[in-house]
Amino acid sequence: MTDVVIGLDLGTGGARTIAIDLQGTVIAQQTKGYPLLTPQPGWTEQDPSDWAAASLSALRDVTQQLAELAAGQRRSPYSAIALGLSGQMHGMVALNADGNVIRPAILWNDQRTGQAVAEIEAAVPRQELIQRTGNPAITGFQLPKLVWLRREEPQAFAQLQQMLLPKDYIGYVLTGEAATEPSDASGVGCLNLASREWDTDILNALQLSPTMFPRVIASTAIAGRLQPEIAARVGLPAGLPVIAGGGDNAAAAIGLGISTRNLNRGSLSIGTSGVIFVPCDRPRPDPDGRVHLFCHADGGYHLLGVTLAAGGSLRWYRETFAPAIAYSDLMELAHRSVPGAHGVLFLPHLSGERSPHLDPDARGAWVNLSLAHTQADVVRSVLEGVAFSLSAALNVIREIAPVQQLLATGGGARSQTWLQILADVLQTELIAPPASEGAAYGAAILAMVGVGAYADLDAAFKILPPMSQVVQPQANPAYEAAFKRYEVLYEALKAVR
Ligand code: XUL
Repeated sequence: MTDVVIGLDLGTGGARTIAIDLQGTVIAQQTKGYPLLTPQPGWTEQDPSDWAAASLSALRDVTQQLAELAAGQRRSPYSAIALGLSGQMHGMVALNADGNVIRPAILWNDQRTGQAVAEIEAAVPRQELIQRTGNPAITGFQLPKLVWLRREEPQAFAQLQQMLLPKDYIGYVLTGEAATEPSDASGVGCLNLASREWDTDILNALQLSPTMFPRVIASTAIAGRLQPEIAARVGLPAGLPVIAGGGDNAAAAIGLGISTRNLNRGSLSIGTSGVIFVPCDRPRPDPDGRVHLFCHADGGYHLLGVTLAAGGSLRWYRETFAPAIAYSDLMELAHRSVPGAHGVLFLPHLSGERSPHLDPDARGAWVNLSLAHTQADVVRSVLEGVAFSLSAALNVIREIAPVQQLLATGGGARSQTWLQILADVLQTELIAPPASEGAAYGAAILAMVGVGAYADLDAAFKILPPMSQVVQPQANPAYEAAFKRYEVLYEALKAVR
């Protein structure tokens, strides 16, 4: 028998399931998608039964692949020893007393809760919220969704017995047990960061019962065991330990070996959004709440800066203006322009902004265009604008934590041109890991530690592939000048919204 561990990441686009062996090699993988529902502008929902169906189907595919591989190679079968969970953060799955879902899940990028955010900050002063939970009230977080539900859907609220985060709902489907862990729970909006427990003072101030929230266990703890009927459906052993795991950002960081044991190293991910993740040893929030502070899955904490439209800005540019040009050719074009894009400035706030401005109403812009500018300058301005937005967030993070290196992942990090722009603008050494398997991989690592295959995370990190490619930052006065103008521009454009 060869032991494998399963990692499941419940993303916004689909459920990704992987099986890795104890040396960290990915043996099998499958992703199953599901629709995103937008019943009103600014609202985003998904059906938890779609999540469950996709997760079970992806799990079944992975176990089938494992069986076929073993048979094809005439080797001993693979045996799953644990399953770890990860997923999109902040969403709300509302359950009634029978454990059934009451309404579609409201997601992390939903913007309907502006009034609920104001209600929360009227009950608990913003400064106190930041000190206790690491963050102000934020539209995407789970707590404002609950307050919204109470006001807007009182019948649903009357039935509500328990609220779960997306990945914890999958844990509940798999095991019949409701539990959460600190890295995801700290994105709800009422977890006390110091105690890693629900903050009953905040809940009392909002007249909400702590019993609506699941128990909080460690990220490597066993949340429950696979129910026999589910085990039979997906081809995994009944009673398989299901490990609590982590929110997608914390789990992805674990998959890269980023922990509170090395405060110099964080990560930068350029997917649809751009995320800077920096570990932090104590709960040290930004007093103005300009970047997030959450619990890390290793028992420590981490800061998080989010640029909502990073790769998303480039994708929008391509789809809108250059659908016939491949991404690699767009990067080649950008390379032909110069640092500072001959003066063209782009604000990447195409979906509002999170860090450092926390401004859902911010919008994108180009300025300084002239007849002399070329497509090369315009494309480059998009790459630079995203880097400036990330730099603004990193500057806040650096006031709190001493990060020196960032592991760069995601589609955008595959471009040398964009990597060099990012290194130069952020003035930070970037390391491109040989491969990055994302949050499902981190969930599998947490599961390995959870069942004692490795004594602790440090021991498990030894299986991660060695880092190779390093991009050194070069100082460039053109970027420094452009960044100053970028910051002025964001403020100036408020007048023309
Ligand atoms: C983090 C955040 C996103 C979601 C999406 O605060 O909102 O990264 O976790 O997966």
